[in-house]
Amino acid sequence: MASRRISPQTLEELRHRVDLPGLISRHVALTPSGKEFRGRCPFHEERTPSFFVVPEKGFFFCHGCRARGDAVDFLRRMLGLSFGDAVRELAREVGLPVSESEASAADSSQRLRDVTRLAQEHFQALLWSSEGASTRAYLEARGVTEETARAFGLGWAPEAWDRLAERLERAGLREAGLETGLVQPRKKGAGCYDFFRGRVMLPLRSPDGRPLGFGGRLMSGGAGGPKYLNSKDSPLYHKADTLFGMDLARAEIRRLHRAVLVEGYFDCVLLHQVGVRHAVALCSTHLTPGHLQVLARAEARELVLLLDGDAAGLAAVERLSGPLLAAGVATYVALLPQGEDPDTFALREGGAGVSRLLEDARPLTRHLFTTVLPEGREASFEAKMLALGRLRDVVAKIPPGLMRTAFLDALSAHVGLPSAELEGVLAGPRAPAPAAVATTRAPVAPTSPVSPPVGTPEATVAQAPSPPPAVGTPAERGVDALEARAVACVLRNPSVRDQDAFGALEHLQEAGLRMALGAASTGGLKATGVVARALAGATRTLPTEEDALVKVFRVTCCELSLRRLDAELAKLAELTRDPRPSGAILARLSQRSELLALRHRVRQVLQSLR
Ligand code: CTP
Ligand code: MN
Repeated sequence: MASRRISPQTLEELRHRVDLPGLISRHVALTPSGKEFRGRCPFHEERTPSFFVVPEKGFFFCHGCRARGDAVDFLRRMLGLSFGDAVRELAREVGLPVSESEASAADSSQRLRDVTRLAQEHFQALLWSSEGASTRAYLEARGVTEETARAFGLGWAPEAWDRLAERLERAGLREAGLETGLVQPRKKGAGCYDFFRGRVMLPLRSPDGRPLGFGGRLMSGGAGGPKYLNSKDSPLYHKADTLFGMDLARAEIRRLHRAVLVEGYFDCVLLHQVGVRHAVALCSTHLTPGHLQVLARAEARELVLLLDGDAAGLAAVERLSGPLLAAGVATYVALLPQGEDPDTFALREGGAGVSRLLEDARPLTRHLFTTVLPEGREASFEAKMLALGRLRDVVAKIPPGLMRTAFLDALSAHVGLPSAELEGVLAGPRAPAPAAVATTRAPVAPTSPVSPPVGTPEATVAQAPSPPPAVGTPAERGVDALEARAVACVLRNPSVRDQDAFGALEHLQEAGLRMALGAASTGGLKATGVVARALAGATRTLPTEEDALVKVFRVTCCELSLRRLDAELAKLAELTRDPRPSGAILARLSQRSELLALRHRVRQVLQSLR
């Protein structure tokens, strides 16, 4: 349901028409005092009147308890009405038609806000209660001070089923609780149970500090489940538009015109603690244009990505690059030492250490190029093609224009290939990402058919033939280029098959290619359609000379094997992420070390072939 609000015009008209002293004097004895009215505040106990009504400005305020607001606020507090009911009440009073849908939409979005605010208070109160001692100890062990924890509104959801559900029930907010996902309907019987249990609670707040949803970090020794649970999107919370820490970072971003982006909630928390107050974190999602808008509204002109120094960090850069380059945001990448998270680094090295790291950040494009192709123009042609393949998804997101041209020029300088040729190569079928999961299939990109690059330098071909270029119609993008090339080699010369040292051909994803391979040895079905065309395209790029063919085949098989091993390792890592201790973990660890050893061997062979 859309969170449609009462239109500002309606509210304005309402405020204009209402007789504020008249309304308030039904509940409070008021005496005139100049242009104002004065009385004893209905919202706190007092003997001397410090409650004022200012009809000219349409608001009331109390010097004693700081209560303040307009007619709607007064009715809400005085009569305990929801926002929508208060508006309806007033509208009736002044004879202003307010459509029922307008009022109820405003009402329900107000209720969602009430629920998340109440939940934040609830979790926070529990954390600082006597019950919360072990969670406070957990935070302390992670280096989070009380001041920081309070600033971020951290809280605790105990290991119980209905602590929050009961409170919401009592407050008459069950429906809104369900809509925000904070409580879930019981499978059996009536009532609700708490979604977050046994977790440190991190409120995900709007830039002006209103809680919209929550992230929950599993406590060590907690009930289990994934390490982090996050609120699902609701009419109030949109993860694609929300940056964790933005409410606290906003002023500093505006001052520095710069923001630091990290991937973990706690990274952001600890960066703030050591004085890096312009840090924000993604809420368990990709970077979106919505996030960039939020940053732009805070006048950020530069963005620094602060990422782990390991492969995950690099993969993250590749993931984040697309939208950033597309939006033309000036972006820098700061890399942490291997195996370090921003939070642990911040704790050890302090604000000064982080600042040094941020100063050493290098421009995103340069970082991207050196990551995918460290040797630059000295790299083999094969390596260059693979590197370009890894950049395909990134490039696809950069719209035509100056940014794209500049990017391609810089890339051309880095790889030492003419920039006119790059467009063609980059528009082709996607090459495997190093850590792609096995099921990854090339997406059908909405680009026009491309022809194979022409005029590949002969010297380079003899040294290391290029992988198959883009072939045929967009439909061909579905057939994996590496797989097609491996099979094409066997079709050209079946004896090369013995050189498939790591069994890459036994793991072909494409059924059509498996059939084509069967046809090569046993005379099964011949390939047709897209598979046949992909094979034909691959075949055209194969060297004629026997030794060169064997080499291409061996390199291709190694690459296929590496891709499969990476995918298996990634899957294993995903499983091991599950923090529940179990005997299966040991089995996974030994499986992992086997896979790692195998990957090492494949890499050595590949090295020797280059
Ligand atoms: N995340 C998530 N769900 C998971 C794992 C991670 O939503 N199961 C999100 C969280 O926003 C988390 C971020 O991804 O902060 C980074 O995840 P990860 O690197 O695994 O966690 P850390 O931030 O290092 O978490 P911690 O330091 O608490 O172990
Ligand atoms: Mn961490």
